Amino acid sequence: MTATTTNPTTYRTATPASMFLGWDYLELWVGNARTYAGFLMSAFGFECVAYAGPETGVADRASYLLEQGAIRFLVTGAMHPDSPIASHVRAHGDGVHDLAITVSDAAACYEAALERGAVGLRPPVVVDDDSGKLVLATIATYGDTQHTFVERHAYSGLFMPHFTADRLPPRPVGPEVGLVKIDHAVANVEKGALDQWVGFYERILGFDQLVHFDDETISTEYSALMSTVVWDGSKVVLPINEPADGKKKSQIQEYLDFYGCPGVQHIAQRTEDIVTTVAALRARGVRFLTVPPAYYDDVKVRLAELDLPWDKLQDLGILIDKDQDGYLLQIFTENVTDRPTVFFEIIQREGAKGFGAGNFKALFEAIEREQDRRGNL
Ligand code: FE2
Repeated sequence: MTATTTNPTTYRTATPASMFLGWDYLELWVGNARTYAGFLMSAFGFECVAYAGPETGVADRASYLLEQGAIRFLVTGAMHPDSPIASHVRAHGDGVHDLAITVSDAAACYEAALERGAVGLRPPVVVDDDSGKLVLATIATYGDTQHTFVERHAYSGLFMPHFTADRLPPRPVGPEVGLVKIDHAVANVEKGALDQWVGFYERILGFDQLVHFDDETISTEYSALMSTVVWDGSKVVLPINEPADGKKKSQIQEYLDFYGCPGVQHIAQRTEDIVTTVAALRARGVRFLTVPPAYYDDVKVRLAELDLPWDKLQDLGILIDKDQDGYLLQIFTENVTDRPTVFFEIIQREGAKGFGAGNFKALFEAIEREQDRRGNL
C-alpha cells in the first residue's frame, strides 16, 4: 500500500504498514495487574494463558497475558515506585500503553519508521530462549502511547521469553462471551492535533484514511468531536478523535483532562453473535451505556427493512446502524477504569464497514448523561 499524502520517491524503503501482519497484543499498564487481569477474566471472559514476573526472571514487573479468540491483552503492573509503569499509572490511571503489531521484519519496520520521522523508543532487540527468537522494536505515538513491532516467525514458544503457563490464575466460572478479534482501537488527541496525527500515520507508517467525520456529524446539543479513521489497509484500524467546541465540555476533553494527555479511548472487539455476547457480559456484571427507549422507536422505523430480533436488541441495549455495504450491531461499556478514560465497544458486522455514525448522536447523549453525573459536563 502507499501513503496518500507523500511522494513515494522521498523514501528509499517500503512503508512500515506494508510489513504489518495484524495486531499482536495491547498492553495495559495498571496499578495492580493481578486484580485488573482478574476483572478482565471474570467480567469479560478472558483466559489467562501466560504469566511473567519475579518468579520467572522479570524482576521489575508482573505481566498477565489474557486471550480470547485472536484478542490478546497484556496486563502489566510495577514492582517498585520508581518504575516507569508506576509513573504511567500515577499520571494516567490504568491505561493502554502499547498497541503492539505483528510484523514480517521488525528491524526494517523500525528503520523505515525512523527514516520517515518517527521517534524511536527501543531499537530492534533480539530476545530468545529454547523456543527460538523474536525481534522487538518500539516507536512513540500519541501521548505516552507506543507501537511495538513484534517479529515472531522464528519463535514457537508461549508468547515471549520468561512467560510461563505454570503460575496462572484459574478461569472464573461464567457463560462463554465469544469475542473473536480486535475491530479497532481509538485514540483521543488534543483539539487541533487531529490532522497532525492522521499525517503521522499516513506519512510515517504508510496508512490510508478510511473515513472522516466532521463535528456536524458528531455533535449533540452540548458537545462535539471530529474523527478520522486511518488503517493499514488490512487489520489495523485506528480512529482518531479530537474535541470540538460545543455548549459544554466535549467528552474527548473530559478524557484528556483525566488521562492527562492523548491516549487510547476505546477498544472495539468483534463478536459473531452480539446477542449471546452481550447477554453473557451482562450476566458477568459488565455495565453498558444505556440508550433511551425512544432510540428504538426511531431506529425500528429508520431501519425497518432489516429483519432483526428487535425486542432482544432493546432488552440488551444493543445499537443498530446501516451503511451501503450492510449493517452493524454495537454497544459500549461504561468506563473500565476508575478515571473516565478507557472503555470497550462490542461490535458485530454484517457487511457494514462503518463505525455506527447513525448512532453517534444517541450514543453521545448517553455518554453525556454519565459525564453530567460526574460533574464534568
Ligand atoms: Fe468504536
